[in-house]
Amino acid sequence: MLNSSRGRSQTRSTRSMPFVVMEPDPKTKSNVVGKILMVAALTALCVIMLKQSPSFKEVPHVLVTGGAGYIGSHAALRLLKENYRVSIVDNLSRGNMGAVKVLQGLFPEPGRLQFIYAGLGDAKAVDKIFLENAFDAVMHFAAVIYVGESTMDPLRYYHNITSNTLTVLKLMAAHGVPTLIYSSTCATYGEPEKMPITEETPQTSCEHVPTNPYGKVKKMAEDMILDFSKSFDMAIMILRYFNVIGSDLEGRLGEAPRPELRDQG
Ligand SMILES: NC(=O)c1ccc[n+]([C@@H]2O[C@H](COP(=O)([O-])OP(=O)(O)OC[C@H]3O[C@@H](n4cnc5c(N)ncnc54)[C@H](O)[C@@H]3O)[C@@H](O)[C@H]2O)c1
Repeated sequence: MLNSSRGRSQTRSTRSMPFVVMEPDPKTKSNVVGKILMVAALTALCVIMLKQSPSFKEVPHVLVTGGAGYIGSHAALRLLKENYRVSIVDNLSRGNMGAVKVLQGLFPEPGRLQFIYAGLGDAKAVDKIFLENAFDAVMHFAAVIYVGESTMDPLRYYHNITSNTLTVLKLMAAHGVPTLIYSSTCATYGEPEKMPITEETPQTSCEHVPTNPYGKVKKMAEDMILDFSKSFDMAIMILRYFNVIGSDLEGRLGEAPRPELRDQG
């Protein structure tokens, strides 16, 4: 009813002014353009001021690679809960945009959480991300993670893990990011004689080396990080965990492996 009566009155008014020339008044037009420009300039100014204000700068900004994935999304949630600013970079090759949406819903305030769709293999794109953001730390989770798949497609693992970690390290150094937390794995231990594996268990000895490409490339990435940290002033931490289970206690995040990869672990 409402729509049709509106339609009728529109037709009537159009009919009633066939001779009126509807030239926009140049003054009004330039006024509107001026107002739009003013609003745009003010918005830009606000963003610049916000970014430069001490309170905004004081909040540490963490880059979480692979933050759309299982562990990365939980780490991002924890960081956000602890009031950090978080940027997630993920190419969604394995991750789950749903997890990012959950985080965006929980922390909608401007500047708290940024999602950047990019692959770490694209060094130029990643360089731009570092250039545009002054990160205080990187938590590097992004990786392909399946032992079985790594034996069938090892080069993918060398590229995705070893080569991309090299890119992350180089860009952190180039942009002066002082802290790296690296997500490694128990697969770097191979098959030690003595169980359980402890902090003292050697990762490699003559007999025991990682037994699959996934473990090998993760170990390589660790070695690169350790060697690099000796000559460059960077605080590093390497987490080696064993099959992670569980989820956010409120059930908002979880593990969502692709069905076709479920038996590749
Ligand atoms: N899940 C475990 O039990 C476990 C155990 C030990 C170590 N880890 C390590 O923890 C990290 C995270 O594992 P997860 O279980 O959360 O895996 P996941 O597959 O859920 O998450 C990995 C994320 O990285 C992203 N990614 C992959 N390659 C990328 C690239 N080139 N550029 C950008 N993003 C990319 C994926 O899209 C995905 O969102 C990995 O480094 C893995 O080796 C996991």
